[in-house]
Amino acid sequence: MNKYLVIGNPIEHSLSPLLHNHWFEKHKISNSIYERRKVEKKDLKKIVEQVRNGEIKGVNVTVPFKKEIFNYIDDSSNEVQLTKSVNTLVKEDNKVVGYNTDQGGFEISLRENKWSSQNKKILILGAGGVTSSILSSFIKANGVVKIYLCNRKREKAEELKTLGDKAVDLSGMKNDTIEIVDWGKKIELCDLVINTTSVGLTKNENIKLNFNNYENKKDALFYDLIYNPKETNFLKDAKLRGNKIMNGKMMFLWQAQLAFQMWTGISPKINDEVINLLD
Ligand code: ATR
Repeated sequence: MNKYLVIGNPIEHSLSPLLHNHWFEKHKISNSIYERRKVEKKDLKKIVEQVRNGEIKGVNVTVPFKKEIFNYIDDSSNEVQLTKSVNTLVKEDNKVVGYNTDQGGFEISLRENKWSSQNKKILILGAGGVTSSILSSFIKANGVVKIYLCNRKREKAEELKTLGDKAVDLSGMKNDTIEIVDWGKKIELCDLVINTTSVGLTKNENIKLNFNNYENKKDALFYDLIYNPKETNFLKDAKLRGNKIMNGKMMFLWQAQLAFQMWTGISPKINDEVINLLD
């Protein structure tokens, strides 16, 4: 039996097993099973070893180990080197290679939604494990006017800016593209406001920021990476104001598709069946 895992802590909420096992069934890959496993930091080395020796065929890594796992892998993709964030492990030529499919998943989710970052101003809330993937995708797209980084603990936003500034430099974008904003400080209206914090994962949790002035910018898109619950208060408030909204479900599906393709060579369809499966 080929064994696949999603590892994290907590892990109960992960819908990856449901999705990947559905795809194994759909594609008649009957010798494979995908499970969730709650792990501690001390377990990471062993998991990577198990991928190396073939006991585990593939792994998805989630909160809070996307950065830590980097210390144990043998090689990594360009995206990982830019973001310092790994969410997928693949064995290639006896090496365990770390990939980041969050970035690609996020890019496809915006593209499919016909949203282009060209000449746009973006406000990113949070500086956690996934945020570097989001930041990196906008730098790669190379057309944004401004990226504001806003995190409760300012020093984490600063770390992210240091990482982002290097990529901005290489891309030839203006060197003041990324700017840090203190949590709660008012700035100009942006075209996209994206929540990468964990606020909202628990129902009724509220991001204590005021976006009332976005009543004057109905075409702004409010994107929450959280997909469960479907509509966080961040999105509910945006909807009430008349702004456009989007949750993290499509990004989740696209990142999973990219990982499944690396492991099996098959690119499963993202259709209503899988979209509804997660409801
Ligand atoms: P980690 O910080 O370990 O990478 P994460 O779940 O990937 O964990 O990230 C959590 C994100 O949600 C962080 O940006 C965190 O902000 P801090 O760095 O200031 O802690 C943010 N976050 C969590 N709870 C929050 C709250 N009540 N208000 C604002 N931001 C919050």
